[in-house]
Amino acid sequence: MDYDYIFKILLIGDSGVGKSSVLLRFVDDVFSDSYVASIGVDFRVRTVKVGDKIVKLHLWDTAGQERFRSIITQFYRGSRGIFVMYDVTNRDSFNSVQMWLKDIENFTTEDPVRLLIGNKADLASRRVIPFQLGKQLAETVGMPFIETSAKSSQNVDAAFQIMVDCLLGRFEDVSHNEIDDKPLPPVPVDPTVKRKLSCPCS
Ligand code: GTP
Ligand code: MG
Repeated sequence: MDYDYIFKILLIGDSGVGKSSVLLRFVDDVFSDSYVASIGVDFRVRTVKVGDKIVKLHLWDTAGQERFRSIITQFYRGSRGIFVMYDVTNRDSFNSVQMWLKDIENFTTEDPVRLLIGNKADLASRRVIPFQLGKQLAETVGMPFIETSAKSSQNVDAAFQIMVDCLLGRFEDVSHNEIDDKPLPPVPVDPTVKRKLSCPCS
């Protein structure tokens, strides 16, 4: 086995908020201004190191268009972490957050770590959702919050760092093989790893 922990993580949110862009920035460190709407669900993998532990992330990038909604909810099962994203320049995408949170309630099997992301923070002149409004919503629904920019890279690594820390804090004793869906033997959490965690929800 080439990892100590493996987690299934989902990105959800309205079409065009930048889910694919944030993921590509995190996985390949690239960005494109052109918009190619995702179709269904894309899958990427990235491995990160926390202390001396290898954490493998199975990252599922979902399509935000309404016509894919029932398809993508089938992928919620077994996810340990979910990024709920909106675009700080798009009020509708912010208003949709509650709908995406309901889908999480309805379609997840475990209680996943949820993190709210306001993306496109680089577009200062077009911003319609102030930082404080995002933070307030996150506090109301009890989830950590961060603003990112896939374009400038701002906070993209930080968002994943928070997610991984929260995952290690919450699912410390259970690991799961997402490919064949069989539980893996429990992995005892290393206290040196735990000390390094900075999950705002714990
Ligand atoms: P769907 O696949 O349809 O659900 O959309 P998506 O959420 O994956 O959005 P995508 O990543 O395709 O980005 C949509 C558009 O926004 C593209 O033109 C991106 O270049 C742009 N975009 C994404 N993130 C940012 C950002 O942080 N800043 C700026 N300025 N543009 C961004
Ligand atoms: Mg996409």
